[in-house]
Amino acid sequence: MSKVLCLTPPKGMCDGIVSSLRAEAHFVEKKKFPDGETYVRIPTTVSGEDVLVVHTGFPEQNDRIIEAMFVIDTLKDLGAESVTLLMPYMPYARQDRRFREGEAVSIKVVLRTLASLDLDYLIVVDIHKEYSLSEFGNGAFNVTVLPYLAERVKDELEDPLVLAPDRGATLRAKAVAAALGAPWDYLEKRRDRVTGEVTIKPKEISAQGKTVVIVDDIISTGSTLALAASHLKRAGAKKVIALVSHALMIGDAERKLREAGVDAVVTANTLAREYPSIVRVIDVSKLLAEFIEEKGLL
Ligand code: R5P
Repeated sequence: MSKVLCLTPPKGMCDGIVSSLRAEAHFVEKKKFPDGETYVRIPTTVSGEDVLVVHTGFPEQNDRIIEAMFVIDTLKDLGAESVTLLMPYMPYARQDRRFREGEAVSIKVVLRTLASLDLDYLIVVDIHKEYSLSEFGNGAFNVTVLPYLAERVKDELEDPLVLAPDRGATLRAKAVAAALGAPWDYLEKRRDRVTGEVTIKPKEISAQGKTVVIVDDIISTGSTLALAASHLKRAGAKKVIALVSHALMIGDAERKLREAGVDAVVTANTLAREYPSIVRVIDVSKLLAEFIEEKGLL
């Protein structure tokens, strides 16, 4: 037997998973006490069941992590046969190293904490660095949605050139380029670890008249994308489209991107939020349901 528990899922994610897997859906009861503490309650019996928790890690990352911890522990207490957490956006993934002496390696703590609750399986989407998942141990899976997004918009891209805004994004750019049958290139970005300021090394890019598809895992403040887009517009790009897994779009990111010449942002529904109008959201729940079915997790 198997059940799907919807905790704080992105819009469309729970419905999509439930209808693709033809599973029984239940909504976790949750509230905040007046002092800010989190309360959750599982509204169904789970003893002997394989349970999939559909959740995500943004916005309000800390609350989302606490909710996940409480729910996983409760499901285990109540005798669930197996528990799988689908967390399309994994927060804290960018702090995967001690960049400056004394810093916390945040993703290590988050993943080890989830593993310590006897969570059986964890599924994430395009985590910042896949190697981080080794902190969870066996049973963690990363699903890449970028080629799927690319396929969905392929017919609208005239003469595309795929571009990684930094070396860290080159594997993602190559995968998108393969899906589009397009050439790819990369820029070299540097981020000041103290101020967060981003700079891009000047480079010749043959972008004249092209639709440039900038590929990345995350748009946070939009600084990386805006800088890359201005560079490409100067190099003669006709259109600039951002293809990203997680569009956090913090603060005035939309304005920054529009002013830099970004025509549209294409992303997956990995966050529990409404998106600004520059963002086009593609539902990836079917892709994730297929992955869950293939792995036999439910
Ligand atoms: C960093 O390496 C990530 O892949 C993204 O490029 C970064 O998080 C984007 O952040 P922002 O939008 O604030 O420049």
